[in-house]
Amino acid sequence: MINGKKVLYSGMQATGNLTLGNYLGALKNWVTLNEEYECFYGVMDLHSLTVRQNPTEFRQRARALYILYVAAGLDPEKNCIYYQSHVSGHAELAWLLNCFTYMGELNRMTQFKDKSSKHADNINAGLYTYPVLMAADILLYQADVVPIGADQKQHLEITRDIAERFNSVYGDVFTVPEPFIGKKGARVMSLQDPAKKMSKSDENLNASIYLTDDRDTVIRKFKRAVTDSDSVVRYSEDKPGISNLMEIYSAASGKSYDEIEKEFDGKGYGDFKLAVGESVADILQPLQARVAELAKDKAYIDSMIKANDEKAQYFSTKTLRKVQKKLGLTERIR
Ligand code: TYM
Repeated sequence: MINGKKVLYSGMQATGNLTLGNYLGALKNWVTLNEEYECFYGVMDLHSLTVRQNPTEFRQRARALYILYVAAGLDPEKNCIYYQSHVSGHAELAWLLNCFTYMGELNRMTQFKDKSSKHADNINAGLYTYPVLMAADILLYQADVVPIGADQKQHLEITRDIAERFNSVYGDVFTVPEPFIGKKGARVMSLQDPAKKMSKSDENLNASIYLTDDRDTVIRKFKRAVTDSDSVVRYSEDKPGISNLMEIYSAASGKSYDEIEKEFDGKGYGDFKLAVGESVADILQPLQARVAELAKDKAYIDSMIKANDEKAQYFSTKTLRKVQKKLGLTERIR
């Protein structure tokens, strides 16, 4: 608890071009939940280093991500929005937690298996211990809740296991966090292959809607989305393309599946795809305008980064010192 409120923690990697999946699966829920909780949102730049980055582009992307959080409606004066790499406690706690994590657990992580098959030439130890750094992010702030998309659920489970393991030896040191996975939009699929998750690293640019796509591009990509040979707008397991579009439309417009099925009763896929495209473009356009506006205000963003670094430092150090003490590391002499 901080200021009488439960704590929320989440973040995104500062890699690649963010997609509609990141927005509907995570960012949108962060905004809905942020009044209720004391919130920490990290720009996860340390996690991004498991893949080689171009330093100049990387710095720009990390800044763009910071601005995106604010543009989406997270007030940096109320929410602690900060860079993971600015708070040394993340890497420090990750080391300590590495000593409480089993290789057998890490071997089971599906994201590690996926990513190591995609980057066969660079299967580094960071990729392997990635979930431990994520556990450190969350546990450092004693988070109660972690809003994420469905693909991160396994990482939340290992975080809980590590926290419980530590607590069982040393007493109640860590709050054991709960995942928050939205009812709609928790797993947005590729527009070109609805069996695959929409991902920023997809080579087919038509597979993903990027948060930077303009209105025409969004509508064009939805028009080209893979569906089926039927022509009925209905949510069903055997209609993965249409079901994915319905999920996106429902998350974007707030309409239920029943309402959507009624709205397009007797109409073809063309009308439906256009409506989905428009509802998404209606969200992205104002978001992009706010990003452009905020990007101009360098002094404001810089002052928020500075203030929030200090806030994150303060709360993370509290946890880190407690952990170090429990483990028997020698206390600092003041
Ligand atoms: P990342 O950067 O891959 O994704 C950020 C968030 O977006 C969600 N997401 C999706 N949701 C629905 N459909 C999709 N197609 C989709 N693609 C991505 C992700 O589930 C995530 O919530 N390891 C994390 C970043 C991280 C983190 C943390 C998150 C590091 N430390 C601590 C929470 C708490 C990651 O790579 O997310």
